[in-house]
Amino acid sequence: MTADATSPGPSPGVSTTDFLDAVVLALFARTRIPACDRPARLGRLLVVETPAEAAQILDQPELFAKNFALVAAFGPSRFNQNGAAWKGLRPRTQRAYARAGRPVMQAEIAAIYADELARAVPDATPGAAQIETVLARAALRIFFAAFGLQPDVAPFLAHFGQLRQTVAELQRLSWNGASTANRDEIRGRAARPLQDFIAACEAQPEVNATITRLAAEAPALPLRAMAADFMTNMFAGIETTTASLAWMIDAIGRNATLQDALRDEARDPEGQGSLLASFRDECLRVFAPIPFVVREATADTRLGHHDLTKGDLVLLSLVGLHRDAGSWTDPLAFHAARAEFAPGAPPNPAFRPFLSGPRACGGRRIAEMELTAALRLLVCHFRFESPAEDPAFSYALAFRPKLGRGHRITRLT
Ligand code: HEM
Repeated sequence: MTADATSPGPSPGVSTTDFLDAVVLALFARTRIPACDRPARLGRLLVVETPAEAAQILDQPELFAKNFALVAAFGPSRFNQNGAAWKGLRPRTQRAYARAGRPVMQAEIAAIYADELARAVPDATPGAAQIETVLARAALRIFFAAFGLQPDVAPFLAHFGQLRQTVAELQRLSWNGASTANRDEIRGRAARPLQDFIAACEAQPEVNATITRLAAEAPALPLRAMAADFMTNMFAGIETTTASLAWMIDAIGRNATLQDALRDEARDPEGQGSLLASFRDECLRVFAPIPFVVREATADTRLGHHDLTKGDLVLLSLVGLHRDAGSWTDPLAFHAARAEFAPGAPPNPAFRPFLSGPRACGGRRIAEMELTAALRLLVCHFRFESPAEDPAFSYALAFRPKLGRGHRITRLT
């Protein structure tokens, strides 16, 4: 597939997947062009990919509001609401994430990944698809554990695949803002997975009781709206974490020397974990699980050198930010031990896999602990080999490689 850096939007006959993948490819393609020669826009969206302009957007969420027609189709959630509505929703889930993101939770998180990896593949060599399922199961358990819940995650895992497909379709339909014509189609497609999620929750009384309790908090919400918010939270947490780990698996399998060094560090009880940490961050930099976000100007304003009119859409490219020539040495290369991520290096304002500011990722601390714990376990217990060619990838809210037959995974212990 070729990427056109000025791709205007989906054309008739272009599949959802191909279209969305082409948008991501276009963002990668831009980074190989000198910044001064790049087109300012992708379709009708102004592309922002420098730290100063990104900060302007992220620090002013009232001026650059979220425009997330895709997620809005499921109902109001903290992902798509702005202003007072967002402030009313956020604490319901954020309290749980703040508790679960404390460093003392690291051991519990590691124990869940260890349990899933051991239970699912006691002595066999897992295939790549199986390991992704195992990792998604662990991420689901950790998501529910943040709310003090221990449900049977199997029905939620089954629901997840359906939700991913719907998200990809909705993303295409809502790409250039939902017209009245396709708004009904978007709502119609979103209804089924939400209904199935509600049914899965109703079958597990403790989950249902939690959603009912969260809905009853002031200002009270309809149960269906709270279920939509909860489902969106679940999807956001599991898809991104699993996608990040899949990229790490692919990257580990490409370099046997690096793989051995990561394994030695993971097995050393005295080890500081600095290579594991910088490898984790380099994977998040090069393969940002959320490659871009879209914001809408709520008033006429100026962004960098551009005048924006109220209603204009801006695409903040994390792909571009993570390859900004002024912010990184050798930005297009993958360096597992990158100097910018060495212990003691100052935080780089161009590293924003979780964004920053008020609308930054609510589960960042949990996600970081998950990635660290899972990475350690993976390199300790498995050997990975990746095919020579770049992996195919898919984009449905998160960007993830398709691990396939060419990826070999062997159990070591
Ligand atoms: C590697 C893993 C993850 C990455 C890279 C990631 C990244 C992001 C990004 C970029 C956003 C902003 C999206 C936007 O503005 O459109 C976001 C939002 C969010 N994420 Fe994550 N995320 C990860 C894991 C998680 C986990 C594990 C949870 C919860 C358990 C979580 C919960 C949230 C929530 C609640 C928001 C919405 C924040 C708000 O606007 O109120 N994320 N995440």
